[in-house]
Amino acid sequence: MKLRLLIVAVVLFSSVSYAQTVPAVHGTTTAAPTASGPDWWKHAVLYEIYPRSFQDSNGDGVGDLNGITARLGYLEHLGVDAVWISPMYPSPQVDFGYDISNYEAVDPQYGTLADFDRLVASGREHHIRIILDMVLNHTSDKHPWFAEAASSRTNPKHDWYCWSDGVPADAPGVTDYQKRFVQDGPNGKVVPPNNWVSLFGGSAWEWVPALHQFYYHKFYKQQPDLDWRNPEVEKAMFAAMRFWMDRGVAGFRLDAIPTLFEDPQMRNEPVARAGVNAQGDPILNDIYTNMLPGVHDVLRRMRAMADTYSASSYPNTRVLIGETYLPNTAALLPWYGTPAHPELQLPMDMLVGFHAEGGVSGANAILNANHFRDTLNAAETEIGSHQPLLVFDNHDNPRSWNRFGDGVHNLAIAKIIASMLLTARATPLMYYGEEIGMVTSTPTRREDVKDPIGITGWPKEKGRDGERTPMQWDASNRQAGFSSDAHTWLPVPPDYTRVNVASESADPDSLLNWYENLIRLRREIPSLRDGGMKILDCHNAAVVCYVRKSSNNSAAAVIALNMSAASQTAAIDLSAEGLTAHDATTLLRDGPAVSGRQHLASLPLAPFASWIGSVSSTSPGAKTNGAPRGN
Ligand code: NOJ
Repeated sequence: MKLRLLIVAVVLFSSVSYAQTVPAVHGTTTAAPTASGPDWWKHAVLYEIYPRSFQDSNGDGVGDLNGITARLGYLEHLGVDAVWISPMYPSPQVDFGYDISNYEAVDPQYGTLADFDRLVASGREHHIRIILDMVLNHTSDKHPWFAEAASSRTNPKHDWYCWSDGVPADAPGVTDYQKRFVQDGPNGKVVPPNNWVSLFGGSAWEWVPALHQFYYHKFYKQQPDLDWRNPEVEKAMFAAMRFWMDRGVAGFRLDAIPTLFEDPQMRNEPVARAGVNAQGDPILNDIYTNMLPGVHDVLRRMRAMADTYSASSYPNTRVLIGETYLPNTAALLPWYGTPAHPELQLPMDMLVGFHAEGGVSGANAILNANHFRDTLNAAETEIGSHQPLLVFDNHDNPRSWNRFGDGVHNLAIAKIIASMLLTARATPLMYYGEEIGMVTSTPTRREDVKDPIGITGWPKEKGRDGERTPMQWDASNRQAGFSSDAHTWLPVPPDYTRVNVASESADPDSLLNWYENLIRLRREIPSLRDGGMKILDCHNAAVVCYVRKSSNNSAAAVIALNMSAASQTAAIDLSAEGLTAHDATTLLRDGPAVSGRQHLASLPLAPFASWIGSVSSTSPGAKTNGAPRGN
């Protein structure tokens, strides 16, 4: 999470909605294979659950583990293979769980370890693996490690964290920004050692008067950074990871992993551009606090440790997923490691789903065919044969429904996003509520904001509450079936009477049924499951087109997505892919004109239409060896 998207579009249901070719599958059991084998994470559909907001089982207005267990049937039916649960460890909840005070327990508001064990066991019955969020960069300031560390300079835990005595306030080179944080040191006024800013506002250095020292925190001051140069830190954190792997978790999403190390010389970071950010701090290029090389040594050792579990009780590989907001696709490559020294299986490719001019997530995220074609193609050409991980929604950014929706065709646009997510050559990562088109419900009054950055940054930064509202299950009560408590921790958006799982299950045109059908196709069609990917019709400014082709002679899949409000005719030529077919059979479509058998040379696409077709690969002259890659 770097920059926040500020666009909240007017949300209307799309006027473009047509019957699909494939009948709705809700209410039936899919016979297609679930993700299995050592490469299960390549075939899996991943689903992020924000535990506070998924399902409340005990009527306190906050979601919990038993609530998740109760909804595994829904997730299995949807076609989810693994859930990533955002932190559910004991925490003062300053950053809603990303400030952990005990890495080997469950926060009582979410349940108990016994509840967790039941969740894992029930997950096995539903063929759903459990992936946990592991916050390695920092702990809570209420973690006993930090309490010890801050108790004296000689405490053995002191150098588990990053400390500085600061510098004299009148020392040469001290910036005006540093001077804003002046403190009384033992020998006069001192300021933080450099200009580093917290991503959540203010100096990244917090003064501890009793020690006459500052500690470093990349995020909130209640989240002191661990010093990963200290081997004891790695030992303790790996032990915590083992604790959960021994309980059967299938892997971890590694929070803020690029920020593990800081420059030991603590040099000032250069100013990236003039002015201040939403929190009033200088805008820096974080070259000394982000992506320092030491993290790769840690990841190599971590992967080796995780790989020792591959043959243990819960079958198959444990997966390491990275929260990797990076400047470009090529920068993902080092995070995979090398064949001899692998690191992450799945560093997140945020470039496709969270784009903006000149940055990661941010404003100006429009449905732009050139952007999607370029970034999908980059994932094919710039990270070797590694598996990309695509994501369009998470708990840190406004929902894709609003970011990409134009206020008129939102449903059709959401189906386009879902189609890319589930038909590209990548592991897809969903976020709860994405499948029903939940909207961003940003608070309208500062006094209602729960996320601290929304309070300090108001009104420029309104925080992340909007994308964390309770899951909308049904219209049985005003809490949308999420809770029996009228006071849910965040309010349920008023559209719950229309936008909910129950009503969308019954509607064959719904987004939920679109997701189910896509996931079913992905499981059933070998080329969508395993095939290579090649972008087609590369200069079309309105339509994104690609082919997925297996090396085993099974049918290829062609995907065409009209990202414009005008009707388009795509001209698809597969001859360069070794396919002589001129026609395709429609597998799934959202648009009026296209169904049944279609001529690829002139494929009509209604405004914002999605179309997926099947093409025979056994035509004379078809190449049989090797899937297409890149351009
Ligand atoms: C990234 C998480 O996704 C975000 O929610 C959290 O605030 C920061 N890391 C700090 O842990």
